[in-house]
Amino acid sequence: MSSARTLPLREVEQCRRALSAHRLRMSETVLLDLFAADSDRFRRLSWRAGPLTLDLSKMPMTDRTVALLLDLAAAAGIDQARRDMFEGKAVNVTERRAAWHVALRGGADRPAPEVDAAREAMLRFAAGVRADAKVTDVVHIGIGGSLLGPTLAVDALTAYADGPRIHWLGSVDGGTVAQLMRKLDPARTLAIVASKSFTTQETLVNAKAMRGWFGADAQSRMVAVTARPDRAHDAGYGTDRILPFAEWVGGRFSLWSAVGVPIAIAIGPERFREMLTGAAALDRHFREAPADKNLPLLHGLAWLWNTAFGSSGAVAVLPYDRRLARLVDHLQQLVMESLGKSVDREGHPVELPTAPVVFGQAGTDGQHAFMQVIHQGPRTIPVEFIAAITPEHDLIDHHRHLLANCFAQGAVLMRGLSASQAIADLRARGFDEATARSLVPHVVCPGNRPSSTILVERIDPAGLGALIAFYEHSAFAQGVVLGINPFDQWGVERGKRVAAEVLAGHASDPSTAGLLAATGLDRPR
Ligand code: F6P
Repeated sequence: MSSARTLPLREVEQCRRALSAHRLRMSETVLLDLFAADSDRFRRLSWRAGPLTLDLSKMPMTDRTVALLLDLAAAAGIDQARRDMFEGKAVNVTERRAAWHVALRGGADRPAPEVDAAREAMLRFAAGVRADAKVTDVVHIGIGGSLLGPTLAVDALTAYADGPRIHWLGSVDGGTVAQLMRKLDPARTLAIVASKSFTTQETLVNAKAMRGWFGADAQSRMVAVTARPDRAHDAGYGTDRILPFAEWVGGRFSLWSAVGVPIAIAIGPERFREMLTGAAALDRHFREAPADKNLPLLHGLAWLWNTAFGSSGAVAVLPYDRRLARLVDHLQQLVMESLGKSVDREGHPVELPTAPVVFGQAGTDGQHAFMQVIHQGPRTIPVEFIAAITPEHDLIDHHRHLLANCFAQGAVLMRGLSASQAIADLRARGFDEATARSLVPHVVCPGNRPSSTILVERIDPAGLGALIAFYEHSAFAQGVVLGINPFDQWGVERGKRVAAEVLAGHASDPSTAGLLAATGLDRPR
């Protein structure tokens, strides 16, 4: 099944063993000691590429760690796998497809005229919508990769949005579509029905409701975005109301394709092209930069160091920028749908833990929600902080507070709070000596907890494009090193099928039968 050469298991195995032994030796390492021993540590464990800066210096890593991880990546065939992906080869081995999203932004190794044509058609359509004064609102209907990427980009680039208002319709929870139909005017609304397969029930049920709402005007008020124009056509969309994209576009990599049409409607075709250009620049970096200066590779290896070689089952992502709030949702799908596998490309069990559970929230809100468990909880959960160097507003004092909070969280995770510091802290806050001493066990923080930080020059279209492409390539690199296929998602297909059975009132177990009975779903409508 593998398109890439089968991993030289002996070499990979040797590298894995060396890393496991190294991890054991590192188990007593104290991050603060690593800094004390090397005043140059921050410079040596942080890297820049384009608008991105990656700081891994607060991760439990040394130069030796990086070297061993790079050896593993080399043994796992990262160079050949990367070439195969950029050349559009069938790297998605179980679906026998390419994963050529770099071609969507012009970052591929060879021309892709059909891709360029689809992009231009989409951008022409977006320009037409923006020029139509009668369209004030656009409802984008989709789910998973057909929704998360566009939502992230439109939210992040609000400062650049000068087109119709964009509304999002994902879950089949009727409350959302009912609210939109109450609020919007069908005569001034366009609906985009985005579904790669054009079989996802949530999207089709929502589209059906909107079609009824549009009534006789539905034909001119709805457009389909899909890799199956045949199915869209069968569902009544005219050829001029279908924006196609290729089957090899993975859902979680699709915002660069026609699925990104709401982005182009919101910010305009030229800004959309800037986003593609930013991503393509990062593609070139990932394609060409030497391994020890390659940000997506180093980042992916650092995540693997925590998940596959450490005992971290989760990673918390805190973008200290409300514009990137949706990045957490996007990364959940990108990382957990790409890496959440248990067998390798050949179908053999993978010994190493593959995907972390990704969770998080924009900062500073997140530090008032779940950072307590990360500072004082029973397990080590690595944290990834993301921040913009330059804000899109001129409230500089706000931005300084935002960055100070972001950096403080990482510093406290590493430094912790000792008993003597806790007492001094409490005394300074007015607690008497006896009370302060009684509170020490509750107040001390163990520290020595890892975090990484990514800085983005500014969240403009190019910077956002680079950031998203960075994470795509990091997930890909992790997949290669783990020997898994990061481009399929068989595990979620089953749920879609069983949902149809349950909808028909069929229960495969007594619990489901009980729930059907309790909600009346066991009786025909
Ligand atoms: O979550 C499963 C999944 O297949 C995702 O991979 C995909 O992005 C989403 O459902 C929506 O699929 P479609 O775009 O085919 O409607």
